[in-house]
Amino acid sequence: MSLKIFPKKKNTAAEIVCNLSSINKIDLVNIKRALNKFGMVYFRNQKLNSKQYLSFAKKIGKPALYPRLKGLNKKFPEITVVQRKKKDKGPSFGEQFHTDSSYTKKPPTFTMLFSKLVPRKGLANTEFSSQYLAYENLPKKYKTQINKLIGTFSSKGPIAITTVERVKEKGKLNKELKANHKLVKTIGKKKSIYFSAGHFIGFNSRQNRKLNELEKYLKKHQIKKKFQFSLEWEKNQLAIWDNRSMLHQATPFNGNRIMHRITIK
Ligand SMILES: [Fe+2]
Repeated sequence: MSLKIFPKKKNTAAEIVCNLSSINKIDLVNIKRALNKFGMVYFRNQKLNSKQYLSFAKKIGKPALYPRLKGLNKKFPEITVVQRKKKDKGPSFGEQFHTDSSYTKKPPTFTMLFSKLVPRKGLANTEFSSQYLAYENLPKKYKTQINKLIGTFSSKGPIAITTVERVKEKGKLNKELKANHKLVKTIGKKKSIYFSAGHFIGFNSRQNRKLNELEKYLKKHQIKKKFQFSLEWEKNQLAIWDNRSMLHQATPFNGNRIMHRITIK
């Protein structure tokens, strides 16, 4: 059976039907094309072990090591476990719109999540907001303004509160990482806003009234409902998104969930 692509809600995402353990070269080209077009694609009912998961990831690009969390085990350091337990209090990991690792000089190009254990469907979604659409719909005066701007992003930005528990539990020293990025990225032929509010700590120029106004506007504008797609998780579902153009966040929930994550350089 050949691969089938089903676009969702005004092309903010697409579901792809295929078996990821046996894709051929043409399938891979189509997956990459869809990823570029929609920003986020997902695959249901994938029975992949860690070796097969990593093998698919390597077809997309070179897996990165996540700077702040340890890997699954010695054999699969590229796979990190994103886990929420029923008894956990406070916000989930990543519970605010952000792009991954914007506080590093070279954030991952793509992020993949593979669900191993999930609560009832619809209870713990991941929401995406297309920054291609956000840029396209930006009023002209702001477009001109942000095309020239650089932002500073920090691992201790507003979203840091959701990682404190995780890092305490699993991981490495909690040293602050910071990086500067242009607020507009050109990906292929498209332009995208690159503004991860969860990590944003300021513009790389003196803050003034105009910039304050822009910051406020961007934060509201970039997550308008019309740019968003809410992904419902099922067990054995794999999602992959462009980490430069798709903001994402975990919806708040109470329950057990285990996701295996791979990021691509
Ligand atoms: Fe994330």
